[in-house]
Amino acid sequence: MEEETHRQAVRHLREEPYYLPQGDEVAIFETCHARGLAVMLKGPTGCGKTRFVEHMAWRLGRPLVTVACHDDLSASDLTGRFLVRGGETVWQDGPLTLAARLGAICYLDEIVEARQDTVVVIHPLTDDRRILPVDKAGELVEAAPGFQLVVSYNPGYQHVLKDLKPSTRQRFVALDFDFPPPELEARIVMHEGGVDEPTARELVALAARIRNLRDRGLTEVPSSRLLVATARLMASGIPAREACRVALMGPLSDDPELLAAMHDLVNVVLA
Ligand SMILES: Nc1ncnc2c1ncn2[C@@H]1O[C@H](COP(=O)(O)OP(=O)(O)OP(=O)(O)O)[C@@H](O)[C@H]1O
Ligand SMILES: [Mg+2]
Repeated sequence: MEEETHRQAVRHLREEPYYLPQGDEVAIFETCHARGLAVMLKGPTGCGKTRFVEHMAWRLGRPLVTVACHDDLSASDLTGRFLVRGGETVWQDGPLTLAARLGAICYLDEIVEARQDTVVVIHPLTDDRRILPVDKAGELVEAAPGFQLVVSYNPGYQHVLKDLKPSTRQRFVALDFDFPPPELEARIVMHEGGVDEPTARELVALAARIRNLRDRGLTEVPSSRLLVATARLMASGIPAREACRVALMGPLSDDPELLAAMHDLVNVVLA
């Protein structure tokens, strides 16, 4: 067997990750945590899903284990495998097994990317018994108190062939995420981007105008993440128009017409 080192991403968040709630998602998540219910976060890229999970792990005082899902991910990548270490065969827990033992929050990011035969290994953990059969190790791992499964995905990017099975979906409480209302988004941009309030408001107003270009064929619209990046450049002294060009417009499209339309909006909105 091939030697492998498998660095486990267990994080203990000691400082509060900044998160501005949009509704009652904090209370719902806390209730799910207390009741042993798994949570599904749905929403477009850059709207705060990952930040929310980090914030909740901190708030609940639980370690956070994150797995970025991809189509090569196997059940063993989640549960664990035997490794050869200096001539000896040792068992190494995968991130899911580790999270179950630690009573951690296990965050499966972009779960639809994983194959369905991989995803089904989480099913027994979401049943009342909260167990994880680790067949290869011949072990039945009981999830420690505090263990919670959280998955996220972006419904917009979903392909016809890539969807969760109903038997998987129906094991989760679903929280919908979207771009925050302008008031809140401006506060996020101020806090995260380090710009003053008028600048943050301008960027948010610009984003609203660019998001309207969806009707004209802009498939990717700016997320809060892009606004934060643009604000950071501006806060570091990059001129506003230049910051918008490289951090806001460039990442969204290569289409000359759409770029020109965005450029016009920048000129209209920025003072
Ligand atoms: N409600 C919020 N409170 C605080 N920061 C936020 C919020 N929403 C977005 N942000 C900011 O936007 C950035 C991107 O958010 P995050 O990484 O959580 O997005 P995501 O939904 O996980 O995106 P992806 O689907 O691409 O992984 C954060 O790093 C943070 O700066
Ligand atoms: Mg994320």
